Amino acid sequence: MLQLRLSCALRNCRPAYRSFNTTAVRLKPLVILDEQHATDKVTNVTPAILSKIPMRLHNQTDHPLSILKTIIQSHYDDFSHFSSLSPLVTPFKNFDELSFPKDHPGRSVTDSYYINKDLMLRTHTSAHEVQVFGEKQDKWLLTADVYRRDEIDRSHYPVFHQMEGARLFDATAAGMKEVEEDNARLEGILKQSNIVIEDIPHISEANPVQPTHNPAHAELVAKNLKLSLNSLILRLFGSGERSSPLRVRWIEAYFPFTSPSFEVEVFYGGRWLEILGSGVVLQSTLDKANVQGKIGWAFGLGLERIAMVLFSIPDIRLFWSQDERFLSQFKSGEITTFKPYSKFPACFKDLSFWNPEGSAPLHDNDFCDVVRDVAGDLVEDVKLIDSFVHPKTNRSSSCYRINYRSMDRQVGFTREQE
Ligand code: DAH
Repeated sequence: MLQLRLSCALRNCRPAYRSFNTTAVRLKPLVILDEQHATDKVTNVTPAILSKIPMRLHNQTDHPLSILKTIIQSHYDDFSHFSSLSPLVTPFKNFDELSFPKDHPGRSVTDSYYINKDLMLRTHTSAHEVQVFGEKQDKWLLTADVYRRDEIDRSHYPVFHQMEGARLFDATAAGMKEVEEDNARLEGILKQSNIVIEDIPHISEANPVQPTHNPAHAELVAKNLKLSLNSLILRLFGSGERSSPLRVRWIEAYFPFTSPSFEVEVFYGGRWLEILGSGVVLQSTLDKANVQGKIGWAFGLGLERIAMVLFSIPDIRLFWSQDERFLSQFKSGEITTFKPYSKFPACFKDLSFWNPEGSAPLHDNDFCDVVRDVAGDLVEDVKLIDSFVHPKTNRSSSCYRINYRSMDRQVGFTREQE
């Protein structure tokens, strides 16, 4: 079946969808969230991806993602919260409004899902920053499903969930006094707890203050960002008895829409885990939202990453499971340890094929989308294990190893029934 679908995809003859972008063909409109959308030569959403759009796992009661969302929400209890914005956004909103350069790789059809050239599935919750700041919100959280074309393994899935948070202050003496008071409050909380923070300067030559900002204001706001997130991390990872302190480290980063910018890693389960990106909001983002006289911070964190660690969920596909043995294990407000109920052996199948004549080898993400369409969540991971170029004809072939391993089935179960 996969072989058949693949050859179909390679010949570009799937009726309403195409995984990749060769010659233009007429495609049927797509109905997404009850609205019809035209398709064109950049359309690359697949049925497997479209089927996830209505699911909104982050709003499903007792789902680990919604439990985590609610805990973060309760930590930021005076923030407004948005959690049902449509994932359909313009590339302008996803990228340009946030100052992404024109040649940013995230814009490519191999990295992002396009409905047509003017409409895509958001790749991050930051896509809504200008919109929400424009509603004159100074303290807000936003949770949503986001979509990125990716390879297949236990920790990557093309749909995942992010939570964006932001806080703005008046860029005045009174506003900065408010920041200082909040910083003192947060420092008090952190001082009493068993947490070790590896910090870096709030501002440096490589991670500069924005030209329109007063450096003293930017320092205070960046400090507030760090303290606020350190206290959130303490809330999430620091509970329970621990013999060694919780370790957190701040790392210099780059995002097109913040400066200075930071990433945060938490030492958990014996390794450093990157959990979020953050920074001082670019003035141009606030200008586009018509917000004047303010300075502030924003962050975006990946809910699955954190939930996998906190609930001990070993495979990202499990979040999509409708199996009661998965869903019944979680209760609102509680972080519990997941007990696996399926131990299926790995089942490898290798699949090789010639790439279309005269074109580059198939992109891994294109192959993975075909696999997801055909085999759905039965596939645990996919690896390119061999590529070959024929010395005479110059044609190339690829060989992928597909690991079929159900996350829900149980080996013993059927045997016992027999
Ligand atoms: N949107 C970024 C991502 O998906 C994460 C991020 C970084 C969000 C910096 C922010 C921010 O709000 O300020 O990788």
